[in-house]
Amino acid sequence: MEKIKMILDCDTGHDDAIALMVAARHPQIELLGVTVVAGNQTLDKTLPNTLHVCQHLGLDVPVYGGMDRPMVRDQVTAGDVHGESGLDGPVFEPLVKRAEQKHAVNYLIDTLMASDGDITLVPVGPLSNIAMAMRLEPRICQKIKKIVIMGGAVGLGNVTPTAEFNTFVDPEAAHVVFTSGVPLVMMGLNLTNNVRADMDIIERMEAIGNKAGKLFGDIMRFTFRSQAVNGLSSGPVHDVTAVTYLVAPEIYETKDMFVEIELNHGPSYGQTVCDINNRYHKPANVTVGLTCQLEPFWNIVEDTLRRHI
Ligand code: RIB
Ligand code: CA
Repeated sequence: MEKIKMILDCDTGHDDAIALMVAARHPQIELLGVTVVAGNQTLDKTLPNTLHVCQHLGLDVPVYGGMDRPMVRDQVTAGDVHGESGLDGPVFEPLVKRAEQKHAVNYLIDTLMASDGDITLVPVGPLSNIAMAMRLEPRICQKIKKIVIMGGAVGLGNVTPTAEFNTFVDPEAAHVVFTSGVPLVMMGLNLTNNVRADMDIIERMEAIGNKAGKLFGDIMRFTFRSQAVNGLSSGPVHDVTAVTYLVAPEIYETKDMFVEIELNHGPSYGQTVCDINNRYHKPANVTVGLTCQLEPFWNIVEDTLRRHI
């Protein structure tokens, strides 16, 4: 079977790191490159975090630094969730792997324009890199096969009552992507909050006995502790759902609907307004994830971690 060519765009972060681990070693995926954006922490932290994960697991994939701030609004980060480093918990070796010289936005444009239109983008952080590439070279919109994001929500947010973090951090970028006309799949909080690693899952992955299983445990034990503060006994792996959708769409229930981004600077700024009941009678622009079958999901994660060192 021909592999799915993809580029991961991330703001590493705990769940980003696991999404990278799955994307890098899944047998159906050809991970062409990783582009990094500010989000969970500032770019001077999310970029080395990404490089650390690649170096630690021997992933020979090019990593490109991108936008260090949103397109328009003031910068927002999530040190309260991901820690001062943006990936608190795991301890890595001194960093040797270096990012590529080319800016992520230019890498996206050059790679997509040279392609046969067979590349899927999987952004799991704020959409600043993707949107800037679309604005700098609008022709890439005809060259992107599909975009599968983690972001948004049908319903409540996690950073404000209405907005999910990734779309809240750069609402204008999200608007550019959601109005681009590129086939778009959205894994939002309504789905990803139900895809959680509890201690059984953590111990299951650690029992694999390799560096990837240990790293999964170190990552999720940090998330587990921070969730426990809120009385929860598990931690969400939001970003991993976007990668697993690529290889197993059948484990997801989805619905096509019209989705727009709230850009007014009011209480709903950055919300993905999902017209699930088609009140506007506008053509659908997004395939929205509703549910995920957890058993096959975790089997994919475990099977892929087993393919690591
Ligand atoms: O709201 C969850 C999203 O925000 C995830 O992508 C997480 O990594 C953070 O970026
Ligand atoms: Ca992320």
